[in-house]
Amino acid sequence: MRIAIANRKGGCAKTTSAVYLCMAAWMRGIPVRLYDADPQGSATLWYDLASDDKPLPFDVIPANVRSVSRIPDDCLSVIDCPADGLALNAALSVADMIIVPSSDSPLDVQQTYETMKSLNPSAVSRVLLTRCERNTVSFRLTVDSLDDAGVPRFSDAVWKRQAIKNAFGMRPPKLYEYGSVFSDLLVGGKK
Ligand SMILES: Nc1ncnc2c1ncn2[C@@H]1O[C@H](COP(=O)(O)OP(=O)(O)OP(=O)(O)O)[C@@H](O)[C@H]1O
Ligand SMILES: [Mg+2]
Repeated sequence: MRIAIANRKGGCAKTTSAVYLCMAAWMRGIPVRLYDADPQGSATLWYDLASDDKPLPFDVIPANVRSVSRIPDDCLSVIDCPADGLALNAALSVADMIIVPSSDSPLDVQQTYETMKSLNPSAVSRVLLTRCERNTVSFRLTVDSLDDAGVPRFSDAVWKRQAIKNAFGMRPPKLYEYGSVFSDLLVGGKK
């Protein structure tokens, strides 16, 4: 299965979600590779920094528009997408599943709707609410707005946490909600 983590908005936890979901796969003994299709190279930098101490337990492979189109389907592949450009389009067309991370800010959700509209209908697509703040009006409004519009989403949201923010460049010691999101993904991925 090839999973693209994509949103046309920058800074909405694409790279963080890609790394944590790969960790979740690895912790279940599922072979996984992370393809870094974003020229910013944040996932690759995360891997390099972690290698100095406790390496990420899966490969992070830099990818471009050509290599993304040829990602083999021999194991679980997670693609960290750029916010726009040809590599994004290539990743969206090769993906069996598209996860669209979004914060609980109305501004971000607007862009999430745009991203969802532009996706390949043959892929399973779901919004993953991330960096959310519990018991806030914005979180509740975001959930209601997605549900009223019939936009598929993971039932668990990932809460805003210092530990997740500070995990950049390290092997994440704990999965938080990404563990249950990954379980949900394995069930929901079957189309
Ligand atoms: N659950 C969370 N709690 C707190 N901070 C978070 C959480 N998830 C992500 N972040 C932080 O939000 C910022 C953006 O995350 P990230 O770099 O993963 O987004 P991105 O969509 O990959 O960005 P870009 O568009 O630049 O590639 C980072 O500083 C990251 O540490
Ligand atoms: Mg990124």
